[in-house]
Amino acid sequence: MIRRVGVVGCGLMGSGIAEVVARAGYDVVVRELSAELLERGLGRIDASMRRAVERGKLDEAARDAARARIRGTTALEDLAGVDLVIEAVIERMDEKKAVLGALDRIVAPGVVLASNTSSLSITEMAAATRRPDRVVGLHFFNPVPVMPLVEIVRGLATAEEVVAAMREFAGRLGKTVVVARDTPGFIVNRLLIPYLLDAIRVLELGVASREDIDTAITLGLGHPMGPLTLLDFVGLDTTYYIAEAMFQEFKDSRYAPPPLLKQMVLAGWWGRKSGRGFYEYG
Ligand code: CAA
Repeated sequence: MIRRVGVVGCGLMGSGIAEVVARAGYDVVVRELSAELLERGLGRIDASMRRAVERGKLDEAARDAARARIRGTTALEDLAGVDLVIEAVIERMDEKKAVLGALDRIVAPGVVLASNTSSLSITEMAAATRRPDRVVGLHFFNPVPVMPLVEIVRGLATAEEVVAAMREFAGRLGKTVVVARDTPGFIVNRLLIPYLLDAIRVLELGVASREDIDTAITLGLGHPMGPLTLLDFVGLDTTYYIAEAMFQEFKDSRYAPPPLLKQMVLAGWWGRKSGRGFYEYG
């Protein structure tokens, strides 16, 4: 029975996950590396819940109750008593393995360790723990409170009962579940990343302006955002990490980050989060 959930990382994804889990009635312990990062992450949760109240998605009493269920910490050891952990740290295998290896020694033996990775191998992460059968992918989409999908990723060693437990848990969060095998990008990013990279190539080739590329896709295909706006929203750094990981695995040029993407990442133009990407943000 899941009552308390640990969330590791309170960035864009971790804060959204902590919010959604608390709004579904679970107690949440969320861990960040420093007090400053934690404060920023909890501030993001407050802002998002304020928006949900303004939009009539949440009443004030439910907001206050959800907020009271979230406890922040900078000590991973504070996750000792949780019934489920969801990690949402930076998209790098060495970091993921270090966190899961440490959690494996902190939380009780049967507890599921879920990763919000968008492209890295669950099987490889699981091998860094003594409970590979309890390690699973639980991939949320940005903005987490709004996007209704969760991808469950079954690693080579993931137990079927763990997939079933995550299916039930995601359902309680109000999410629709799809299940994928542990292959780079799973379902959504397998299709999304080549599309986003192609949009950058179209811009690089001078086929059209950034505005016209985005307008073409929003109005011509009915997408809520054009690809360059979506890249700024997801983060160019995150997209670059995902594309690199997929390219390393498949050695297929479709996944190779275009030079412009790499240059923008090196320049610190990471999209909305840094104030500049394909567009400028105030
Ligand atoms: N809590 C609950 N609901 C909220 C909310 C919150 N904090 N904030 C907004 N909402 C609701 C709004 O009430 C609104 O609902 P209704 O349509 O029922 O009124 C809805 O969410 C849309 O919100 P807004 O009107 O504020 O914003 P918008 O219409 O401009 O849409 C958007 C914003 C939802 C981000 C939309 O542009 C969109 O869907 N963009 C695409 C996002 C996307 O593709 N995300 C996936 C990225 S890939 C990823 O995450 C995975 C990866 O691994 C890279």
